[in-house]
Amino acid sequence: MSKRNTELIKKENILSENKDIDIKEDHFKELMDIYTSAMDKMTMYLNEIKRDVKKFYDYDVIDHISSRLKSPESIITKMEKKGYDLNYKELIENIHDVAGVRVICPLKDDIYKMREIISNIDEIKILEETDYISKPKKSGYRSYHMVCSVPVEYKENILYVNCEVQIRTMAMDFWATLEHRMKYKSSVGYSEECSKEFIKFAKTVASLDNKIGKLYKKRHGNNDIVVLKK
Ligand code: GTP
Ligand code: MG
Repeated sequence: MSKRNTELIKKENILSENKDIDIKEDHFKELMDIYTSAMDKMTMYLNEIKRDVKKFYDYDVIDHISSRLKSPESIITKMEKKGYDLNYKELIENIHDVAGVRVICPLKDDIYKMREIISNIDEIKILEETDYISKPKKSGYRSYHMVCSVPVEYKENILYVNCEVQIRTMAMDFWATLEHRMKYKSSVGYSEECSKEFIKFAKTVASLDNKIGKLYKKRHGNNDIVVLKK
């Protein structure tokens, strides 16, 4: 969350400096409501982009959008894992994915188009960007991550609240969904062998994305975003 955001939330007394987190208290619930509004606001912007691009260019730059609010338990686990004190200040300043939105695009080029469109929206501030496509994670994970700050109305004030946006292709999503399910949800554990297999699958998926992208360009030409920038 940006400094400005923290200041505003403090002013509004949603949190007291260093106040310990209690996930059962109203304080916490109120903060989660604010994050929910941020998530909904980001989804709204993205749905507008999807509609506009379809309307003006007859093109589906987004296949679908999903969102989730991080559960209180996951927030606490992540804070503990990263060694943060369990207070509101630490949560707001360091946990950027309480509100999370995922954008699934058909083609790899669409991801960068989306990135560009989002960065052209004045109300959205981009705080952080990580390109796990040009530089995939060791696991093979590919996606474009952005930490955005979006304006949310709260008690007649505008708060800027963080929201993590993950942009990926349908193929990348297929890989990430199954890898996540097998890694985190599997009762049989995740072996070294399994990791190696998934790294191979990730390469296959990346190659498929590239091949389909090339074929699309050959048939339809460059679906350039230049027009979208105006
Ligand atoms: P976490 O948010 O705790 O993961 O740490 P981080 O902020 O350093 O990681 P990063 O921003 O790179 O990744 C955040 C999110 O990306 C995760 O919550 C997942 O949704 C996704 N992600 C990252 N790495 C992987 C991976 O290897 N496999 C899958 N399936 N998803 C991943
Ligand atoms: Mg993160």
